[in-house]
Amino acid sequence: MAENIAVALDGPGGSGKSTIAKMLAKRLGSIYLDTGAMYRTFALKVLRSGLNKSDRSGILKILDETKVDVAFENGEQRMLLDGEDVTGLIREPDVTEWASFVASIPEVRLKLVELQREVSKRVSIVMDGRDIGTYVLPHAQYKFFLTASPEVRAKRRYDESLAKGMTVSYSEIYEALAARDAQDSGRDFAPLRQAEDAILIDTGMLTPGEVMETILRHMNR
Ligand code: DC
Repeated sequence: MAENIAVALDGPGGSGKSTIAKMLAKRLGSIYLDTGAMYRTFALKVLRSGLNKSDRSGILKILDETKVDVAFENGEQRMLLDGEDVTGLIREPDVTEWASFVASIPEVRLKLVELQREVSKRVSIVMDGRDIGTYVLPHAQYKFFLTASPEVRAKRRYDESLAKGMTVSYSEIYEALAARDAQDSGRDFAPLRQAEDAILIDTGMLTPGEVMETILRHMNR
């Protein structure tokens, strides 16, 4: 049987990770695992509970009682929160903000990383996140770190929001992204960081097709 392969794709929000990860997984015939969706799912639970960010023990109690699961339907990832399919509920701005916060709590990370590693044992996988190459799958065969300037990334998010019919301001999106970058990079445990053996790709001036070409070129070496 062929060996399962793992591709780690890390980078900040708006760097193009999820677009590329989806395309790459399709091309390789592997599963795409969006690990951010897991942090978002747990964030939704905490948000629903109405707890304050300062109530760490309350959040840890919820963590103990919560089951986050991932399922795949026709290759599409579905997120289950205590059995409820919340896939359509985890992209709201307040969930986005809370996801970055809960992701800074080591106990939350340990629980979700366990699930991420479990999925990767069974199948060939393209996994995107912030700490996949450095912490979750340090032995992944292929590692890429995607980036782009904050302005480019904010503009992408802005365009995506407009396309969804949302009323948003570019400056609000820019500020929220910058705050999230700072929180994701500044945490002590498994922060957003390029692995030493990851290939850095600036996606700012590239189309998704060109990013894919670059990645495939490196993988074929
Ligand atoms: O990729 P995303 O925007 O869906 O991620 C949501 C948040 O989850 C992000 O602010 C950082 C956090 N995250 C993380 O800390 N580690 C990961 N592997 C994936 C996401």
